[in-house]
Amino acid sequence: MDPRTAHDLESRYLMPTYRRAPVVFVAGEGCYLLDSDGRRYLDFVSGIATVSLGHCHPRVVGALSSQASRLWHTSNLFYTEPQLRLAERLAGLTGWGKAFFASSGAEAIECALKVVRKYWRIQGEDRTRIVALKNSFHGRTLGALSLTGQPPKRRPFEPLLPEIVFVDPIDPQLESCGDGVGAVFVELVQAEGGVHPLPPDSAERIARYCSETGALLVVDEVQTGLCRTGSWFAWQHERLWGDLEPDVFTLGKALGNGIPISACIAKEQVAGAFEPGDHATTLGGAPLAAAVACEVLAVMEQERLYEAARRQGDYLRRKLEEVAGVVSVRGLGLLLAAEIETDAASVVSRALEAGLLLNAVGERSLRFAPPLVITETEIDEGVEILSKALRETE
Ligand SMILES: Cc1ncc(COP(=O)(O)O)c(C=O)c1O
Repeated sequence: MDPRTAHDLESRYLMPTYRRAPVVFVAGEGCYLLDSDGRRYLDFVSGIATVSLGHCHPRVVGALSSQASRLWHTSNLFYTEPQLRLAERLAGLTGWGKAFFASSGAEAIECALKVVRKYWRIQGEDRTRIVALKNSFHGRTLGALSLTGQPPKRRPFEPLLPEIVFVDPIDPQLESCGDGVGAVFVELVQAEGGVHPLPPDSAERIARYCSETGALLVVDEVQTGLCRTGSWFAWQHERLWGDLEPDVFTLGKALGNGIPISACIAKEQVAGAFEPGDHATTLGGAPLAAAVACEVLAVMEQERLYEAARRQGDYLRRKLEEVAGVVSVRGLGLLLAAEIETDAASVVSRALEAGLLLNAVGERSLRFAPPLVITETEIDEGVEILSKALRETE
C-alpha cells in the first residue's frame, strides 16, 4: 500500500488521533525497517522505546511462534505457566514484588492508582491525594491523564481525577502539598516530556518526603525500564538517585518488544491490599504475551543489554555532541535527546526522506531511543544522516 492510499483510508476509517509520517512500513529486521516501496530505514525510534531487541529478533519470533501453536489465551479464571514464570522472573530482578499484568502502560498506571487507593483504605486512613510532577507523562486513560502534568493534553478532557497536586521536578515543594497524600508518582527520566532526568536533589527530597510521611513512592518505568537507561530499572542507578526504592513501579513498552504487555509491580504489603475481584483485565498476562516477555527478559540478560545501553549510549552521545547544529545532549543510556539549533519537526522529515527514523520531543529537541542491540556502525550511519539533515534544514 502506498502512503497516499494509506492517508485516504485513514481519513475515512480511523479516528484522527495521530499525526503520521507519509510512510507505510511492511517489514523489519534488527535496527532496520522496510517500507512498501522497498526502501530501508534505520530506526532510532524503536516504536517509542519499545522494540529494544530490534525488529523480529529470532529468539522472540521463536518464542512467539512456539507459544502461538500451543495456547494463546484462557482468561485469568485459570492458571497458565508463562504468566507465573514471568512474575517470578521479574521479582528475581528486584528481590521483591508481586505483579499485575495488563496490556498497555496506561493500564499499569491505573493499577498503581487503584492499589495505592486500596492500600490506604485498608489502613483506615483517608489518604486519597496524589502528588505528581509537572511536565510528566503517564498515559492517556482518564486516570493516567489525571497524573500527567502537561496542561494541553489534559485540558480538553477535564474534569479529571480530583486531589492530584503537581510539583516542579526541579524544586519539588512537597511540604505545601497538604495532608492526606497517599503516593508520589515520578518518572526518573521524563521521556515524553523531553528526556529530562530528575535532578538527584529532587529525587532525594521526594524519597525523604515519602519515608517521613509514609506516602508510597510509585516510579513509572514504562519507558525507562528494562535496560533502556543502562540498568534493569532506572531507580537502580544508585550513583544518580541514591538508594531510592519504589513501593510500586510500572513497566510496559519493552516488556513485549512490541507485543502488548505491561506490569504493575508492588511490594508485598502494598500488593496484598488487593483481593480477588478488586482489579482485572481480560487479556492481562495471557500466555502468548507472557511467553514473549519471558524470552525478552532472557535475551536482555544473556546479551547484557543494560551494559550495551550504557556503552552504546555513551558512544551515541559523543557522536551527537560532535555534530554541527547540536547544542547539547541529555538523557541516560540509550534514551537521549539533542537540543538543536533548527526546527525539530523539519529535521525529522528530512531524516525520514534520507532513511533515518527520528522523533521530535519539543520544538528544538530530538529523541533518540534506538534498539539496544544497535552497533557502532549503525550509530555512525544514523548520525551521518542526521548531520546532513541538520545542514539542509539550517
Ligand atoms: C512513562 C510513561 N508512562 C506511561 C505511558 C503510557 O503507555 P501506553 O502508551 O502503553 O499506554 C508512557 C507512554 O509513552 C510513558 O512514557
